[in-house]
Amino acid sequence: MSTNETPYTRVAIVLHWLIAVLIFCTFPLGLYMSDLPLSPARVKLFSYHKWIGITILALAILRLGWRSFHRPPPLPATMPRWQQVASHALHYLFYLFLLVVPLSGWLMSSAKGFQTVWLGILPLPDLVSKDKALGELLTEVHESLNWILLVLVCVHVAAALKHHFIDRDGLLLRMALRKRTV
Ligand code: HEM
Repeated sequence: MSTNETPYTRVAIVLHWLIAVLIFCTFPLGLYMSDLPLSPARVKLFSYHKWIGITILALAILRLGWRSFHRPPPLPATMPRWQQVASHALHYLFYLFLLVVPLSGWLMSSAKGFQTVWLGILPLPDLVSKDKALGELLTEVHESLNWILLVLVCVHVAAALKHHFIDRDGLLLRMALRKRTV
């Protein structure tokens, strides 16, 4: 296994793909549900969206905690300096957005007077008291942050595919769950 392929820990890999799948679910759900007319079905979809969103927040905090004790494998020395800097910057931005996007949704719901009850079981505290104007502002914030998140995801996926299919440097394999010989 070349240094290019020094893998992340299994926990980091599982958290990476779990968070990725949950974002790929809750993003289109958010777009779809926002335009629906008021109905019991819309209310249910809003709950599912919030449950997934809060789960992403919890997993992101777990992942940051794990990362602080399990440093990611170093980027290959053969990688151009600007790519190393860009890669680190994108990863830090990702962690920031994995926290602020769900927090903006939670704040928005609190300001709109809708308590978030995680999985329909655990009532979460309202982060702010009811405030119509703040609720509308936070809706815009949640929406804008999500479009930036989408751009970050597209750049991240494009870079990963370029490394795998063009550079063939095995970088994508560092995030693959594979049998370990060592
Ligand atoms: C990473 C997690 C999350 C992602 C990726 C996400 C994504 C989105 C997207 C794409 C929309 C549609 C915005 C638009 O209309 O263009 C949306 C709407 C919404 N989100 Fe989230 N969201 C997340 C977490 C949350 C959380 C944690 C909550 C609340 C606890 C929440 C509450 C809402 C609500 C209430 C709307 C509808 C806003 C409206 O009235 O139009 N979201 N979300």
